[in-house]
Amino acid sequence: MYADRKEIMSQIGVIGLGVMGSSIARNMLSHGFSVSGYNRSFSKTQALIGRNIPGFSGYETLAEFAASLESPKKVFLMVPAGSAVDQTIDELIPLLAPGDIIMDGGNSFFRDTNRRSERLRALGLRYFGVGVSGGEEGALKGPSIMPSGDRESYPLIAEILETISAKKDGEPCCAYIGPEGSGHYVKMVHNAIEYADMQLLAEVYLVLKYVNRLKNAEIADILEDWNKGEVSSYLVEITAHILREKDPDTGNDLIDMIRDVAGNKGTGRWTSIEALEQECNASLLTAAYQARITSGSTLLRTALRGIVKENAAAPVPMQTVHAAYALAKSIAYSQGFALYSDASRRYQWDLNLAEIASIFRAGCIIRARLLSDIMEACRGGAEHLLLAPGFRAQAENNSGSLRELLIAGLHAGLALPVFSSAAAYLNQLSAECLGANIIQGQRDFFGAHTYERIDREGAEHHLWSAAEH
Ligand code: 6PG
Repeated sequence: MYADRKEIMSQIGVIGLGVMGSSIARNMLSHGFSVSGYNRSFSKTQALIGRNIPGFSGYETLAEFAASLESPKKVFLMVPAGSAVDQTIDELIPLLAPGDIIMDGGNSFFRDTNRRSERLRALGLRYFGVGVSGGEEGALKGPSIMPSGDRESYPLIAEILETISAKKDGEPCCAYIGPEGSGHYVKMVHNAIEYADMQLLAEVYLVLKYVNRLKNAEIADILEDWNKGEVSSYLVEITAHILREKDPDTGNDLIDMIRDVAGNKGTGRWTSIEALEQECNASLLTAAYQARITSGSTLLRTALRGIVKENAAAPVPMQTVHAAYALAKSIAYSQGFALYSDASRRYQWDLNLAEIASIFRAGCIIRARLLSDIMEACRGGAEHLLLAPGFRAQAENNSGSLRELLIAGLHAGLALPVFSSAAAYLNQLSAECLGANIIQGQRDFFGAHTYERIDREGAEHHLWSAAEH
């Protein structure tokens, strides 16, 4: 025990006092909650003790930490997703009593959260998967929070989570999501939408730099201007800042000194795999993940550099770039929300899509003006966002710009995988024929898989004249 509050019990305990965990703890403290802290290596706990924040007590052992919590004990985990979560839970179990609550605030895989919920329920403990978005600043000042678990137990944690969350029009950006791992599922898909919007902005940068021949600061000016209107979002805002930043070592624009390779921690991959499992088309989200993978294929990139010849292309009008971006961004969000809608039915989570859009409006990385329109469309009962009148009209009005941007970009030899996926998806949905009749014919020809006809019901096999029977 290293703080001077021996006799007072804490309302909540935070385990994992790295950047995100200590920021969440400080957020709780700044709202007047008493917080106990524990970290595997004590130095991080000491660093937080050193801030002398009233209401905080840090502990060197997990037993002391657990003993310092009010009953039912509430423990908030901020440890790296994966085995560290299981290990921490294993160590906590003997220190907790039935009715106590563990919340996992990391980016855990939702199927792990499902498994952990079941295990802890059998022991009488309550487990919440809590999606938290907003990075370090969000954690400290107000993140978007997506808690899932036992609905009856949610009121026990609602006050703390809703108080520390971001606020939009005075409303907390935190709401009960659904049972078991649904909160982590919602956060996982949030991250995949984040990947797609990040990549779209990277592709806007490529077009403006290599086709329109603009300088970084000029691109920043444009993004700043965009950020005053329809496509305004946190990611647009920070991309403008990034483009203006100078490198203290060389004086160059910092962006020009950063390697052209992007990593990831897995949530985009999980979303792509889950989308395939759900048989939902999340092509923009997957393309963004694959773009990062390809950026890291340095051997191939070095060997094949320059084989596709660049052509000079006329600058793309700025309103065309804007309209293409606005549409592709809407399609990326709509694919994410289609995953929510399918998962809600598939896993019987009863997700409230309008509420998810609502809690994304502040605090999280994908916060954007667009989310208010999504919220309205979901409230209006749209089966898919592209079926909502506003989104359908945008697709109709902006699809020409999307095509124009792509033609110029591809002609210039640029890779625009997420814009390309947006155009392919939209063309697929609007085309009279997708060629699936050919696929049916091929499957029936070589494998007698049968085919369906346009003029009568049922599956049929045809004795193809050239096939060997
Ligand atoms: C957030 C972020 C955060 C993190 C992601 C993405 O919502 O605060 O999504 O959780 O940035 O894990 O990480 P990668 O890009 O490394 O996969």
